[in-house]
Amino acid sequence: MFVTPITFALPLTSRLFPPQKPLLFSGANSSLKLADFMVRNGSKRPLVVTDSFLHENGMLDDLLAFLKQSGCKVSIFDEIIPNPTFAVVEAGLEASRANQCDAVFAVGGGSAIDAAKVMAAASTSKKSIAQLAGILKVDQPLLPFYVAPTTSGTGSEVTSAAVISDSQTHKKKFFVDPKYIPIAAALDTELLKSLPAPMTAATGMDALTHAIEAYICRNRFEDTDRDAAMAIKLLVEFLPIACADGENEQAREMTALGSFLAGFAFTKASLGYVHAISHQISAHYNTPHGLANAVILPRVLRFNKVVSKQRFAALEHMLSPARPQMDDHALANTFIDRIDALSETVNIPPHLEELQSKDFDAIAYDAISEARWSYAVPKVMSKKDVIKILTSASNGNRSVSF
Ligand SMILES: [Fe+2]
Repeated sequence: MFVTPITFALPLTSRLFPPQKPLLFSGANSSLKLADFMVRNGSKRPLVVTDSFLHENGMLDDLLAFLKQSGCKVSIFDEIIPNPTFAVVEAGLEASRANQCDAVFAVGGGSAIDAAKVMAAASTSKKSIAQLAGILKVDQPLLPFYVAPTTSGTGSEVTSAAVISDSQTHKKKFFVDPKYIPIAAALDTELLKSLPAPMTAATGMDALTHAIEAYICRNRFEDTDRDAAMAIKLLVEFLPIACADGENEQAREMTALGSFLAGFAFTKASLGYVHAISHQISAHYNTPHGLANAVILPRVLRFNKVVSKQRFAALEHMLSPARPQMDDHALANTFIDRIDALSETVNIPPHLEELQSKDFDAIAYDAISEARWSYAVPKVMSKKDVIKILTSASNGNRSVSF
């Protein structure tokens, strides 16, 4: 079972407490501009939260030197691991308290950002980390919280949620509150350009999935439509360039901006069946989230084509205008084919070898359950539909029809 309260809570809390985007700094060395902004806002004792790989490889050297030159007393917590636990957050919290830190500055992927969110909340709260788990449990403003992501896909730098594993039970716990959205974020191409091509592709396709699912869901808003459409335009154009040439600064920046906008769109709107199915695939086979999404995405688009035809047509028109001879049906088909072609260009495999038909019943049951309770999907799937998608994802036939 992988029904997560996070995905149900995001659209609900966004209606009750409309989230605000962080202030955004962008481009080469923008993490230094972010640091300067933090210092000018009065924080001089930041806790820098990162992982040992980034720290030991000198990725933070410029930032740390800048902070010290600015008169800061910097504390570094570099013990972030993938799927961080309560114990990791507790250790960071101890470092924050022992050094009387007055801000939290996360540099890393989704794990570092998620852990830093909870450290920043626990630093000002009398609640334990376990007591902060859940929806709207943050009782005090966070320590001023700043973020410089080193991957482009999760959107954690703009979402109101964090995922931390309970050290005892090993179950994932969800922390959802608009207060987790940072004050400001930096999309620093100097930090982003070392991400290897396969991870760039998978995380970029995850971001594209966030944007498309937000754009076609039934919980959409004017601003989420605008952000999702812009994210799709940026990712379709620049993701292939970022994968082919990781040093291309413009492509890195535009891909990161696409991920940022997509993250905000889905936080406020919703996700859909691509995530509902890929979550179960990852739970069964440990498939990376972005890769599972990338393979499932075009199949779910084909399933949605009848009800989302006009939405897909609008996106295709935005991507390549001035084709009056094509009706919505033709434009929608062209859009879906475009997503197939993008997947191929960035070397996403056409199928997932790990899928086993003996698991399809359980995966379909849990995916339908997750979507029912979590997402404002445009069209409801039956178990048979999910199994058809899983079958086509295991045999590589992208052009499954419904
Ligand atoms: Fe995702």
